[in-house]
Amino acid sequence: MASLFLTRPGLRRAGFWPTQGPMDFTATLRRHTAETERGLDLFLPPATTRPERLHAAMRYSVQAGGKRLRPVLTLATAELCGAQPDAALAAAVAIECLHTYSLIHDDLPCMDNDDLRRGRPTVHKQFDEATALLAGDALLTHAFGLLAESYASEPALAHALIRELAAAAGSQRLIGGQMEDLLAENQAATGAQLKFIHLNKTAAMIEAALVMGGLVGHADAAAIATLRQVGRKLGLAFQIVDDVLDATADTATLGKTAGKDAQAGKTTFVKLHGLAASRQLAQEHSAAATVALRRLKGDPAFLLALVESMAGRSH
Ligand code: IPE
Ligand code: IPE
Ligand code: MG
Ligand code: MG
Ligand code: MG
Repeated sequence: MASLFLTRPGLRRAGFWPTQGPMDFTATLRRHTAETERGLDLFLPPATTRPERLHAAMRYSVQAGGKRLRPVLTLATAELCGAQPDAALAAAVAIECLHTYSLIHDDLPCMDNDDLRRGRPTVHKQFDEATALLAGDALLTHAFGLLAESYASEPALAHALIRELAAAAGSQRLIGGQMEDLLAENQAATGAQLKFIHLNKTAAMIEAALVMGGLVGHADAAAIATLRQVGRKLGLAFQIVDDVLDATADTATLGKTAGKDAQAGKTTFVKLHGLAASRQLAQEHSAAATVALRRLKGDPAFLLALVESMAGRSH
């Protein structure tokens, strides 16, 4: 799956190549994803930790792969803002732990009831429902512990990171979005309700990924505000593309069950506006994200290419 993402054609032709110096998108993406994998292995308790079943389930889900969009955003943003090498790694791992918990719980029978995730049986299928619930709980808690431990020598930074992640993952953002996503099943939900769902269940964490990178790089308030804007737009584009792919891609390519949204009566952009308008809107949000990115100091070539690659992704 990673290779599909890495080899998306047309980036050069699409005019998204660096305007301010040479940048090899594929190599930079590989560097950040490899760093993420290294960090996940480093910062998660070993699978043999007691109770082994729980720690094995945590690693099973986290190490199944995935695009690693959020940690890559954190690492790339920190680099753009001039952070020391490795300074953002714990923040990147924390955000991927939190994201993976949200996926484990999203797949549970009481939520979206999915059997496949990241090309593997979901955690409740591979283990059991209670283990999946607890592995999610443990990853969520681990994310905050990791931030507190790793940034202890910089208390103001630790505080800012924890506050950022707590707000993004909390009852008015990620979890609130998930709640309204479920409440909108088989309902005639409005465009405004759908926007609430997308802004919160998805864009909040993408926004936090960028902002946490900025915080590690000690970005100023104006840059943080710009990063929020980028995250909001990229997040909206990202979830619309997720909805389009659910309706159009096949299960093998997605690594998760295709066609689930229509089957579950989910309120999606595709249901409300159709495929063509959804694709158009995703492009518009992506373009807005790139406009905001260009306002940052430094060379945003990698992040520009990443935003573009997300709009054209196959899974
Ligand atoms: C899936 O996120 C959930 C959504 C917010 C659409 P990703 O598409 O980033 O999933 P992974 O991490 O690559 O598996
Ligand atoms: C889930 O949205 C977003 C989360 C916060 C996990 P979806 O339910 O559309 O995500 P997928 O399609 O199962 O990955
Ligand atoms: Mg869901
Ligand atoms: Mg789902
Ligand atoms: Mg989906």
